Amino acid sequence: MHTVAVLSLKGGVGKTTVALGLASAALRRGVRTLVVDLDPQCNATSTLEPGDTSASVHDVLQDPTPETLRAAIAPSAWGDGVDVLVGSEDAEALNHPDPNESRLRRLREALRIARDLDDDLPYQLVLLDCPPSLGQLTRSALVAADRALLVTEPTMFAVAGVQRAFEAVQNERDNNPDLQPLGVVVNRVRPRSHEHQFRIEELRDIFGPLVMPVALPDRLAVQQAQGACMPIHEWGTPGAREVALAFNLVLARVLRVSRSRRRPVHQEFDEQELDEAVSAE
Ligand SMILES: Nc1ncnc2c1ncn2[C@@H]1O[C@H](COP(=O)(O)OP(=O)(O)O)[C@@H](O)[C@H]1O
Ligand SMILES: [Mg+2]
Repeated sequence: MHTVAVLSLKGGVGKTTVALGLASAALRRGVRTLVVDLDPQCNATSTLEPGDTSASVHDVLQDPTPETLRAAIAPSAWGDGVDVLVGSEDAEALNHPDPNESRLRRLREALRIARDLDDDLPYQLVLLDCPPSLGQLTRSALVAADRALLVTEPTMFAVAGVQRAFEAVQNERDNNPDLQPLGVVVNRVRPRSHEHQFRIEELRDIFGPLVMPVALPDRLAVQQAQGACMPIHEWGTPGAREVALAFNLVLARVLRVSRSRRRPVHQEFDEQELDEAVSAE
């Protein structure tokens, strides 16, 4: 099971978009995925439209037991391959600015239980959609994850935000030695913008090869697909196809990097296709 925290310490840069885009790419590949909505704004939950549940991530963080998890996880409306651990406004109350270690470990414990829930099909990928602050919720994600995917826009303030997020990842390694930064994905890029190219170069100077070679273009289709609660891979316009291809490449990197540590048991995606996607980067 690959567990990826999607974060930036800035709002509105595309964390949820990246989590949803990766879930859409995973659905297309047959990689069974759980999206954990840690943001009290619950945007990921709204777009994935799971049915009603009797519990939420708030309850799971209070009481990480198999019963609570079963009550808080529901299939998404996207299809069988993507489930949601549903978000809740109440989770804000758990976003302590300075949580103790036992609080920080609850999500990790919950995901360990989720892995062992006696399901026919275990999750191969867990995507943790974080809120923009560095409180208990984001830090719990960093303690639970083995990879951190940093999201930024190519603007001055966003670059500063990604630096802080990177420091947060490094600091959390005291509590979670398994945690590695997976990379920085630059979102909402307009290729003809000189300012954007300048900021991408600046990011490469700071983060070197951690900046993903594939950037996510700024396309109206992203907002349209989200508004219609559809996976971007099913939206079908030229802009949507462009973004979907970029997400395939990011997913390939997520799976490839994690795979070098531990081979997943259920590999239903086509290995050769995946390697081609990676080498196309
Ligand atoms: N690549 C993109 N192209 C067009 N719109 C985007 C793109 N990425 C994000 N958006 C839009 O920007 C807004 C904020 O994105 P979101 O993923 O919710 O950010 P965050 O989760 O970091 O707060 C949303 O309305 C989303 O549809
Ligand atoms: Mg969000």
